[in-house]
Amino acid sequence: MKIGVFDSGRGGKYVADRLTEIFPNDQITYVNDHAHVPYGSRTPDEIRRLTEAAIQPLLQAKNDAIVLACNTATTNAIAYLRQAYPATLFVGIEPMVKPAARLTETGVIAVCATPATLTSSNYARLKSLHAKDIEVIEPDCATWAETIELGLSDTIDVAGTIAEVRSKNADVIVLGCTHYHYLKKQFLEAAPDMRILEPTDAIAGHIARSLSTAHSQLQ
Ligand code: DGL
Repeated sequence: MKIGVFDSGRGGKYVADRLTEIFPNDQITYVNDHAHVPYGSRTPDEIRRLTEAAIQPLLQAKNDAIVLACNTATTNAIAYLRQAYPATLFVGIEPMVKPAARLTETGVIAVCATPATLTSSNYARLKSLHAKDIEVIEPDCATWAETIELGLSDTIDVAGTIAEVRSKNADVIVLGCTHYHYLKKQFLEAAPDMRILEPTDAIAGHIARSLSTAHSQLQ
């Protein structure tokens, strides 16, 4: 099968590399929008317009699925894209609020995500569906995607963020931006007692299930 992967920047590369490991016999194509990254400080309209333009090569190449490996694009643009391109299977990545809410023992979770994700109506819906009875902390990560895009992830104060959310009693941290997957090791090392969630493997399972359902419906 052919799977297209899109992100504004290098977060999608992390996801595409993992999908290539999981689906070694399939064709994974990754595109980004280097000219306009970061998306996380843009308006919903800009994010929709830029995402639609950037995925044109993936649409034209007739991929079986297009993965929006970007929480910012998913939360702001996936509903529009599904409507505009009904023949294409879009798989999105959203902050893992639901699994985090299930895992927390303290009743407090932290979601690290871009400003455009945190202010989206999609994210508000996720919280109202799955996190009504728990507290959700959203530390300021506004500069992280750009810093990671510049290859400077070592300069990000992961320990400071962990200290902040720990002081508020969080026991689960959601990496709600694919750029932040590059910080996963730092999070795991600095907070071995906390659960650090990112969705790459869950997305692979979701793609495999969606494509096998789509194929069996065609037969
Ligand atoms: N990697 C993207 C995400 O998952 C955002 C990066 C950006 O701000 O462009 O949200």
